[in-house]
Amino acid sequence: MQGIIGLSSMVVQQIEINQINLVLNQLFNDSKNDRDIVNELFVNRAETSITPKDFKDVYLSISKKQGEYLVELIRDNNLKNIVEFGTSFGISTLFLAQGVLNTGGHIVTTELIESKVKRAIVNFKKAGVNNLIQVKTGHAIETLKNYNAPIDLLVLDGWKNLYLPLFKMLEHNFSSKTIVYVDNADMLESQTFLKIIKATGKYKLLPKFGGKVALIVTK
Ligand SMILES: C[S@@+](CC[C@H](N)C(=O)[O-])C[C@H]1O[C@@H](n2cnc3c(N)ncnc32)[C@H](O)[C@@H]1O
Repeated sequence: MQGIIGLSSMVVQQIEINQINLVLNQLFNDSKNDRDIVNELFVNRAETSITPKDFKDVYLSISKKQGEYLVELIRDNNLKNIVEFGTSFGISTLFLAQGVLNTGGHIVTTELIESKVKRAIVNFKKAGVNNLIQVKTGHAIETLKNYNAPIDLLVLDGWKNLYLPLFKMLEHNFSSKTIVYVDNADMLESQTFLKIIKATGKYKLLPKFGGKVALIVTK
């Protein structure tokens, strides 16, 4: 009897994963125009004048391989309490949701642009995982200001100048098993952030994806 119950819960989980993958495929397909929109933006404007609002129609998402890696990271380390900076339309968050299906966890994610939040929530509902995700709309420094709960995985994938203040603001929620996933770790501002974190002597940096990603773990 127990075997049948175990089997049926595995079948249910596979159906949930298939549903998420279906939505992810649609979103990756839709994000193909990102490059043209971004190129046009940089041709017409000085880099310093560009704000998150200029990217309101672009995904700027992590890759499929990075997403699959996040699923494994969550599953293999039994991570339950996930916080994400930079939801966009929800591609990375859907991978995080796939991960927490294995661990019984949940996700808090935050996004500045309201129209992006609305589309992300539609995507979470389509994928059937809206119940696993709390979306906070607004500036991450404000939305996460009073965050006071354990964090097993912090995903930093928003504007790089906020990585350091957010890390410091949330650090009191970390434990020895916390992992911080830093996207675009090879960008200049991220490099400055990572140097400061390394210099504290408390953390180890683990480069992934040829340095595009860095994991920060406790020594
Ligand atoms: C690189 S995209 C995130 C992509 C997403 N993680 C994915 O893989 O699908 C960065 C997002 O951070 C958001 N963002 C920028 N500054 C922010 C802030 N101060 N607070 C919250 N979100 C912010 C942007 O609007 C943008 O949607």
